Amino acid sequence: MARISAGVTTSHVPAIGAALDNGKAADAYWAPVFAGYDYAKRWIAQQQPDVVILVYNDHATAFSQDIIPTFAIGCADSFVPADEGWGPRPVPLVHGHPELASHIAQSVIQSDFDLTIVNKMEVDHGLTVPLSLMFGQPVHWPCRVIPVAVNVVVYPPPSGNRCYQLGKAIRRAVDSFDEDLNVQIWGTGGMSHQLQGPRAGLINRDFDERFLELLVNDPDRLAQWPHIDYVREAGSEGIELVMWLIMRGALDSRVRELRRFYHVPASNTAVGHLILENPSGVRNP
Ligand code: DHB
Ligand code: FE
Repeated sequence: MARISAGVTTSHVPAIGAALDNGKAADAYWAPVFAGYDYAKRWIAQQQPDVVILVYNDHATAFSQDIIPTFAIGCADSFVPADEGWGPRPVPLVHGHPELASHIAQSVIQSDFDLTIVNKMEVDHGLTVPLSLMFGQPVHWPCRVIPVAVNVVVYPPPSGNRCYQLGKAIRRAVDSFDEDLNVQIWGTGGMSHQLQGPRAGLINRDFDERFLELLVNDPDRLAQWPHIDYVREAGSEGIELVMWLIMRGALDSRVRELRRFYHVPASNTAVGHLILENPSGVRNP
């Protein structure tokens, strides 16, 4: 049976990808950001996940004002890194897992979550930067990736509670997949940031720290926070954080926190990162 062994969260700041791609990772500004992921790189090399369900948001790359799916799942064999204006990032092709993705789609849709099924999609920094932070610069990504795209770009975003419940539905789907797979789920984006308007540059450490604590230890309470609180306190792009609740919903109610990292600044955002072990999904506890 497939099992979810761990959850990971990480910011997806595009400038982090650019720093890596352009050989600036050792610069004084970026070195502390990348050092924050040294633990993760060692840990994931030992874990060797077969599949990562990567919850992220598209930034008007694959989707646009023309079509805005609230939740979409990538069921393709592969996903090409997108050109976001500076050429595609020099990162490997992303290989999907069409069988598990289709099973998740069926299971989740039949339990009343209406996912949009995407069979062709380019993936932007929202997906590739988390892969780079966790795996560095390999020739091939070492696992399959199932993209789950969430609309947090155009109003209205889904509520935190809807995301949390979707995570639980994804968990049931993975648990009922009849193949022995080590699956991780990642929630990406965040933390507090605002890219435009009079409050551009907003960072709220107090909010971010409360969010991290509740995500780990009291997600039922966190799931009740209304979207407007994210926007007011964490900035217009801080709403990306609701995606982390999908990750958390897919884990046991109690988890083992292996890693917490928080760093300011990285471009316009606070970088946050967690690794949560899922006790019931660990093969030899
Ligand atoms: C930045 C952060 C984002 O989440 C994003 O999608 C684009 C830019 C930034 O900090 O610059
Ligand atoms: Fe973003």
